[in-house]
Amino acid sequence: MNALAFAASPRKNGNSTALLNAYAEGFCGAGGSLEVIDAARSRVGPCRGCLRCNLIKRCAVRDDGWPALSEKILAADVLVFAAPVYFHHVPGPLKMILDRFRSFLHVRITETGLVHMPWQEWRKHFVLLLAMGEPSGEDARPVVELFEFITGVLGQGNRLSVVTATGLALAGQISMDAVQLRDAYAKLGLDPGRADEDRVRNLAFLKSAYELGNSAVRS
Ligand SMILES: Cc1cc2nc3c(=O)[nH]c(=O)nc-3n(C[C@H](O)[C@H](O)[C@H](O)COP(=O)(O)O)c2cc1C
Repeated sequence: MNALAFAASPRKNGNSTALLNAYAEGFCGAGGSLEVIDAARSRVGPCRGCLRCNLIKRCAVRDDGWPALSEKILAADVLVFAAPVYFHHVPGPLKMILDRFRSFLHVRITETGLVHMPWQEWRKHFVLLLAMGEPSGEDARPVVELFEFITGVLGQGNRLSVVTATGLALAGQISMDAVQLRDAYAKLGLDPGRADEDRVRNLAFLKSAYELGNSAVRS
C-alpha cells in the first residue's frame, strides 16, 4: 500500500508535521510506503480558471509541478493532508493544490445544481491531520467540510478520516513534555497547572495519527 502525504505547514517541526510523522511511523511500520510532498515547495501554481479540464480530462497547465504531482496522486492508495488551520482554512499552498483537483472531474451545470463526475474511478482513503490553536475544534469546520466535499465528489468508493489536534497555539507544542509546557504556559500567562493534562491529550492526538496509519495498512 502506498501513501502520498502533503505537509502544509511552513514551520519546520510544526504540530501538523508531528502528526504526519506519527502517521508515517504507523503506516511504514506496518509495511506501507509513504512519500511526503512539501506543499509550499511543490512548484504547483494556482488554478488559472480556464476550465479546459472539463474538455480535455486533465489540467491544461503543463509548465508547473502539477503534471508530475497529479500522476502521483492518481497512483496513491492513501492521500494524507497534514495542515495547520489558518483563518479557519488551510494554508495557501495547499489550497492551490486542492483547487487543481478540479481537473480530476467533469462538472456539469444543471437547473438544480452542479453534477460532478470523476474521470477515473477513485477508491482512496483520504486522511486529514489538522493542528490548531483554538480548543474546541470549531475553527476546523470549514476545512473538514471541504474535505468531505472533495472525498465525496471524487467517488463513492473514497473515505475520509480526520484527526483534529486542538489547543496547539505554540510551535512544536504537541511534542513538548510537561516541564516544557509548564514553562511555556507560565511565560504566556496561561495556567501551568494544565501542563500534565495537556501532555496526555497531546500524546493521544499523536497516538490517533499513529493508529490511523498502522490500521490503514493492516485492514
Ligand atoms: C496565519 C495563521 C492563522 C491561524 N488561524 C487559526 C485559526 O483560524 N484557528 C485556529 O484554531 N488556529 C489558528 N492558527 C494557529 C495554528 O493553526 C496552530 O498554531 C497550529 O498548531 C500550527 O500548526 P503547525 O505548527 O503545524 O504550523 C493560525 C496560525 C497562523 C500563523
